[in-house]
Amino acid sequence: MQELVQRTWTSASRLHIGDVAWERAVNARRHGDTWRTTFWEDGDQVVAWGWAEPDHLSLVVDPAHAGVAADVLERFQKLAPDGAVSVLETETHLVTALEAAGYHSDDEAPFFTHHRISLSDLRTPVVPDGFTLRHTHPDEIAKRAAAHRAAWSDIAPSQLSDEDMAAVMSVWPYQPELDWVVEAPNGEFAASALIWHDKVHGIGLVEPVGCAPAYRRQGLAQAVNLAALHALRDAGATHAMVCPRGDDGYPQARALYQSIGFRPGARTKLYVR
Ligand SMILES: CC(C)(COP(=O)(O)OP(=O)(O)OC[C@H]1O[C@@H](n2cnc3c(N)ncnc32)[C@H](O)[C@@H]1OP(=O)(O)O)[C@@H](O)C(=O)NCCC(=O)NCCS
Repeated sequence: MQELVQRTWTSASRLHIGDVAWERAVNARRHGDTWRTTFWEDGDQVVAWGWAEPDHLSLVVDPAHAGVAADVLERFQKLAPDGAVSVLETETHLVTALEAAGYHSDDEAPFFTHHRISLSDLRTPVVPDGFTLRHTHPDEIAKRAAAHRAAWSDIAPSQLSDEDMAAVMSVWPYQPELDWVVEAPNGEFAASALIWHDKVHGIGLVEPVGCAPAYRRQGLAQAVNLAALHALRDAGATHAMVCPRGDDGYPQARALYQSIGFRPGARTKLYVR
């Protein structure tokens, strides 16, 4: 799945290899009994896949084999006749196939806006006295998982287990050098930012980011992002992207990334029949 994403990736693509890494490591393992993934191959090359979760479809189709998109949608309709499909508005080969299959965009649905930053001119990260910025180490799985759960604790109790985090930290292209935390004076991980580096395209995906409620609005999420972005640049990348909610139902993530210098681009659209 990641090979197809990387081989066909452009700035018009919805998914980055890091999206697949995070989603497969965290969610696909947990929902393996209901999620269905189907591949289409030409010779020994994967040219399309569809991932039904089960009534929401993510799909990647090589634009050189655009006609296969109709087959992916036909298969999904059998699995989930009332299901919805997410694409980035710039994925024109998928939009064409969706419209031909009788789908239309649901303009009331929440959506995500791709944001991008050039790594050539990053500010220097600053944390309050007593706090430390550093990357994680491979043996800090439990602490790293606790930091993620704490950050999401006031939104919906996060079900991320230590085993899920172990899976994240062992999937390609995870690198501890791009998984940054702010350590509080008591040793807790107060904030975190994980970047997935696509070395072929020189672009990192920031996913996820969090700061525990007790430590918010002190600039920690901003600092941990900036530190991870500096590490990404040192690793040879030129750009980073992040995909926060673009609608006004959840504006804080977008505000954070824009405060760092990320600028908005294309948005996702949800298609229904
Ligand atoms: C979003 C989140 C990471 C922000 O963490 P934080 O450490 O409080 O953020 P910072 O203090 O670095 O904020 C930097 C800037 O981001 C913006 N921002 C942060 N939180 C905001 C909020 N709740 N509302 C509006 N703007 C906000 C502001 O511009 C802020 O600068 P300011 O404080 O000078 O106004 C944190 O609230 C969180 O973990 N939320 C739950 C998880 C989440 O949504 N993660 C992001 C999506 S993956």
